[in-house]
Amino acid sequence: MCGIIGYIGNRQATPILIGGLRKLEYRGYDSAGVSVIDPSSGAGSRVVRCRGKLSGLEQKLVAEPAVGTVGIGHTRWATHGRPSDENSHPHKVGAISVIHNGIIENHLTLRQELASAGAKFSSETDTEIFAHLVDHALTAGAPDLVTAVRRSLQKVRGSYAFVVMSDKEPGTLVAAKNSSPLVVGLGDGENYVASDVTAILSETRKVIFIEEGEMVVVTRDAVTITDFDGNVHKREPKIITWSALQAEKGGFKHYMLKEIHEQPRAVADTLVGRVDLENDDVLLDGIELDVKSIKRIIFIACGTSFHASLVGEFLIEALARIPVEVDVASEFRYRDPIIGKGDLVVAVSQSGETLDTMEAIREAKKKGAKVLAISNVLEASIPRLADYAFYTHAGPEIGVASTKAFTTQLVGMALLAIYLGRRTGTLKPEKARELLAELVALPQKLRDVVESGAQIQAIARRYGNATGFLFLGRGAQYPIALEGALKLKEISYIHAEGYPAGEMKHGPIALIDEHLPVVVLAPRGPSYEKTVSNLAEVRARQGKVIAIASRGDNEIGSHSDDVIVVPDVALELQPIVTVLPLQMLSYYVADFKGTDIDQPRNLAKSVTVE
Ligand code: G6P
Repeated sequence: MCGIIGYIGNRQATPILIGGLRKLEYRGYDSAGVSVIDPSSGAGSRVVRCRGKLSGLEQKLVAEPAVGTVGIGHTRWATHGRPSDENSHPHKVGAISVIHNGIIENHLTLRQELASAGAKFSSETDTEIFAHLVDHALTAGAPDLVTAVRRSLQKVRGSYAFVVMSDKEPGTLVAAKNSSPLVVGLGDGENYVASDVTAILSETRKVIFIEEGEMVVVTRDAVTITDFDGNVHKREPKIITWSALQAEKGGFKHYMLKEIHEQPRAVADTLVGRVDLENDDVLLDGIELDVKSIKRIIFIACGTSFHASLVGEFLIEALARIPVEVDVASEFRYRDPIIGKGDLVVAVSQSGETLDTMEAIREAKKKGAKVLAISNVLEASIPRLADYAFYTHAGPEIGVASTKAFTTQLVGMALLAIYLGRRTGTLKPEKARELLAELVALPQKLRDVVESGAQIQAIARRYGNATGFLFLGRGAQYPIALEGALKLKEISYIHAEGYPAGEMKHGPIALIDEHLPVVVLAPRGPSYEKTVSNLAEVRARQGKVIAIASRGDNEIGSHSDDVIVVPDVALELQPIVTVLPLQMLSYYVADFKGTDIDQPRNLAKSVTVE
């Protein structure tokens, strides 16, 4: 997501802040800003913010220099509120400057409460609310900044790393963490705080990683870590030996591997503010669909997003009983589709910029359909063109092969299907409650899967020299078979095909011999037995079977060469857990082959040509 840096010491802060933010540029951002205090002057902090690139901010800083030895800086990747100068961080309210990574879940309620208490807002962001809360706590009698931040934290729900600074206490930075990364860097008579080690690595290698539910008070000479109740946590600093490039990748060998590991957090961020457990319902960011008038849903997408759409078809038909069609955007736009009022077109695009998808939306709108976009990039062309937008909040994805953008699209599909099903009346509250509870429990289960890397790496080494792979699945596992094959093709350049398991006998079976690894998606469910029969058919022809199975399945091992186990989840959510081992398998096969994993040949992250 966004990037954070803070400095407190005896040197000029601005060049250090800008230098740190430069190191975070690779993550992608749409605006940047700093707030800097000169403690000796007695004047308040100067906030300089700018939509666009850091070079724009630097130009602005020439005209309005921010002088001082204490400061905070931020690169923003918009989630709430479009990219603009006003929405850029730091947000300043009274004496308080705040930068924030993450999402405040209850920001709408807090905004209303603060507004009725007289607060005036100057941005559309969730972050500004926190600056108001801290300011308010001080006016209401909090004795110091630390207490005011602690009291304010009690009011916010969501994921965050905050850094707060006050004109009245220029010798202190206060930071807090829940779900978003935060690290403190230690210097000699100076200290740093940052979202990533990368931002401070050129200044210091001595760091302390802040953990969940911790606050940290940073002065020039001291760093004090506490929990939110003020109990002190002692922690020894670590010395970072990573190179700058390794640090950018969070210590992982490739961005793709880092992004695979980020999926538990990304999924949690997609869910933030959308799960209404009290009413067994889903909140869709103010999207008001007239569900009763929807006669048909048509998904349009390309590549990985097309596969997510196929899972969407399965989920919506199952839970909301609305007929669904799925089309590749480049086909849809040229086939003079029969479409009109009563159709809801759902355009899915991680980048929000794919030209084929954009043109398909134009075609749909021309014919009178309403369009809902599912995008990972706020205010990209596709969500702007659509009537409604749902953002997946996976954070910037750098690896060309999509991983966390895909899983969060799948979470988006599940939320949409529950939302629709509750309104068509086909999804009973009990079932909705069960699915919502399972969605909330998903990040922990995904963590279990990403930790099975060593086993998958060993399998990848064994099959890494194969010249082809087959991926099989039934029901909602069929699109996952397609996605598994696409991932492998994209990054390892090995030919791979995804097939509905029941179709194997109509063609691909001819390919099976002892050289063909066949990945079979066989989690527990209504088609389990049929899938196991397909697996036996592969085995009977000496094919090598890698099964993806549910934990506790003791039977499947006797029909497979390798079994990768995934946690048990509701049938409707299984695609979200089964795709992870396939992403990891592709990754490790490609790594074994030594390909350029983050930038595979001939591929682009965002395809804005036909
Ligand atoms: C490119 C990317 C794929 C992506 C596809 C659709 O081919 O390399 O990863 O799935 O475009 O992109 P979109 O941004 O519309 O999801």
